[in-house]
Amino acid sequence: MHCIQEVKKDILWVGGSDRRLALFENMFPLEAGVSYNAYIIKDEKTILMDTVDPAIFGQFLQNVEAALGGRSLDYLLISHMEPDHGGAVLEMLQHYPGLTVVGSKKAHQLFCQFFPEKADAPFLEVGEGDTLSLGKRSLQFISAPMVHWPEVLFSYMPEEKILFSADAFGTFGALSGNLFADEMDFDDQFLSEARRYYANIVGKFGPSVQGVLKKAGALEIEMLCPLHGPIWRKELGYILSKYDLWSRYAPEAKGVAIFYASMYGHTESAVSALAAKLGDAGVADIRMVDVSKTHPSYCVALAWKYSNLVLAAPTYNMGLYYPMNTLLHELAALNLQNRKVSLIANHSWASAAMKVMTEKVSSMKNVEILGEPLDILSSLTDPAPLDAMAKAIADSLR
Ligand code: FEO
Repeated sequence: MHCIQEVKKDILWVGGSDRRLALFENMFPLEAGVSYNAYIIKDEKTILMDTVDPAIFGQFLQNVEAALGGRSLDYLLISHMEPDHGGAVLEMLQHYPGLTVVGSKKAHQLFCQFFPEKADAPFLEVGEGDTLSLGKRSLQFISAPMVHWPEVLFSYMPEEKILFSADAFGTFGALSGNLFADEMDFDDQFLSEARRYYANIVGKFGPSVQGVLKKAGALEIEMLCPLHGPIWRKELGYILSKYDLWSRYAPEAKGVAIFYASMYGHTESAVSALAAKLGDAGVADIRMVDVSKTHPSYCVALAWKYSNLVLAAPTYNMGLYYPMNTLLHELAALNLQNRKVSLIANHSWASAAMKVMTEKVSSMKNVEILGEPLDILSSLTDPAPLDAMAKAIADSLR
């Protein structure tokens, strides 16, 4: 059975949600699924704006057929060739053999790599500044390389003031009947997942996001249609300002995320004492996260949110305890910047964790090591050695 919703007259959402998928990109846990948005625009010409992950192709095809209402499909735009959006292009070419695929030159190259058996399919290459007329409406293309792959195109429809924004402004989480962000409690339902999506999927490419935000700033936009999650038609400044902060690697909140690893509780005991001292000093927003039990993607999202981080972990096999090593590797790979970081290590006979953490943190741009790093010898019996670090963190937040 089809399941479509109207975005505007003759512009229909034909995407779908996958609530069964456990891992996005087979890596990031999904607690509430994910939506793959796609849109049919019916004008003198018809165009399908992207496809979906092949996992929900059956639903998607019914949606497209219902939305077209017996009309043929003239164009299929590939905004983004990653298979969560471009994975069903081959099937659409089989169902609609007369259609012309539209995308950037790089999208054409990727299309031929993913679907070599259809490399001769009609493909209209478009780029920055090109316009595709659909009749009364048109699409102006905006190059958005590395948001999140190099082939990405945004499309602006001036007649309706809609920006089709590919992965940008998207989020993890299935849609549940409310297509528009203003129809729901977005902060409660989606904000933390939008942040986790941004930081882990697009976070590495902040300068590219800044570049395309500047281009978007020159447009009159009344609606943002991303490829994941709800559509924005009210208070666009809310999500635009989040993207501006996230892509400048600017903290979203003054507060402390304490990422700790503790094999037998001694390191945890130290960070618990530190957290209590911070609370006593008036620090209002403190999060303690056990990196051994928490998928790194959630830690990355919190690192994107908070101004101050504390990293606490033991030495292990003459190196850094593995889950903390993984987290630091990811934060560096994603180019996290502009944070204040305090360090606590623990060892019983040979110290290595502090050296590794210091080196990794020092390699990050504009990251300040705050307070005197503390390398514990097995356990702390007196919390006094944490006083100076707690004071330095609390002072930095005033
Ligand atoms: Fe939603 Fe980069 O794909």
